[in-house]
Amino acid sequence: MKVLVCGGAGYIGSHMVKMLDQEGHDVTVFDNLSTGHKEAVKWGRFAIGDLTEKGSLDSLFEKGHFDAVMHFSAKSLVGESMTDPAGYYRNNVLGTINLLNAMRDHDVKTFIFSSSAATYGNPIKPFIDETHPLNPINPYGKTKLMVEKILEDYEKAYHISSVSLRYFNAAGADKDGDIGESHDPETHLIPNIIKSVVGDRVPLKVFGNDYATKDGTCVRDYIHVTDLAKAHLLSLDYMNANKGAHVFNLGNGKGFSILDVIHAAENVINGKIDFEYQKRRAGDPPTLVADSTFAKMELGWKIEYDNMTDIIKTAFAWHKNQTY
Ligand code: UFG
Repeated sequence: MKVLVCGGAGYIGSHMVKMLDQEGHDVTVFDNLSTGHKEAVKWGRFAIGDLTEKGSLDSLFEKGHFDAVMHFSAKSLVGESMTDPAGYYRNNVLGTINLLNAMRDHDVKTFIFSSSAATYGNPIKPFIDETHPLNPINPYGKTKLMVEKILEDYEKAYHISSVSLRYFNAAGADKDGDIGESHDPETHLIPNIIKSVVGDRVPLKVFGNDYATKDGTCVRDYIHVTDLAKAHLLSLDYMNANKGAHVFNLGNGKGFSILDVIHAAENVINGKIDFEYQKRRAGDPPTLVADSTFAKMELGWKIEYDNMTDIIKTAFAWHKNQTY
């Protein structure tokens, strides 16, 4: 298939591009390089551009003759979305509407959207399935939910089928070490744990130890980036037989507190990781753990990395030889 990957220079997008290329698809990456890296685009062709500029999309679609679009381009930091909601609504909602309109105008009917567990807000049960109420507590989660709603309407009116994949916490890196997670500034837990023990050794801060969790720190469900990419591939097949606007959770189904993750990293390096507690970070729900039964059942999704130590090992391997 000819697949357009918006945000293909970013962390999850670049892993997707590699997998699509390995599976024999023809890939075009579209990215504004605001948070992505040119060096991460190692497969397919690359077009630089911004979804909020309609003009660049028209020429891209005219030339591209795409069969499907995967959309990873988003601002995705919970904390930043609290202080810059305007940037989030512009980039994540307006940019996606432009992209969907270009699809409608060029008769592209298959769309895969990077949604988020942030659409749920504060969980009311330990394992979140797709029927859980949707009450996002930060602008980031709201933008993702808005797009999901837009997709329902675009399916009815313009017959654009979609799969929205609600990721829990993406983690780890490509097993060959070709690509990995690199943000500037880095705000994510696992890369920050690694940065506290390699290179410049930036001191690790743990945001909040007074949550109602087993050890007071936030609990998250960490899912390997290659497992996430696999679910997108399966979603492409799924939409051949199942038209509609579908939503699936993608998580490991296991909750790890921040201290659990630090301890797993200590096992990987066989050493101690120091940190200090800081006050809570705005917009963080205390726990987010997935029930991904529906994705496994419908898509035939199987998780390869079901162990935190293995996930962290891949992240360490990338950070040791990080090239961007
Ligand atoms: N944290 C720290 N120290 C750090 C970094 C993070 O204590 O240096 C804490 C956070 O406060 C949070 C937890 O570790 O409690 C995980 O934080 P991340 O920043 O790694 O991930 P988030 O849970 O904030 O968000 C990620 C994605 C979102 C997505 C969410 C869904 O960035 O896009 O997972 O679960 F919505």
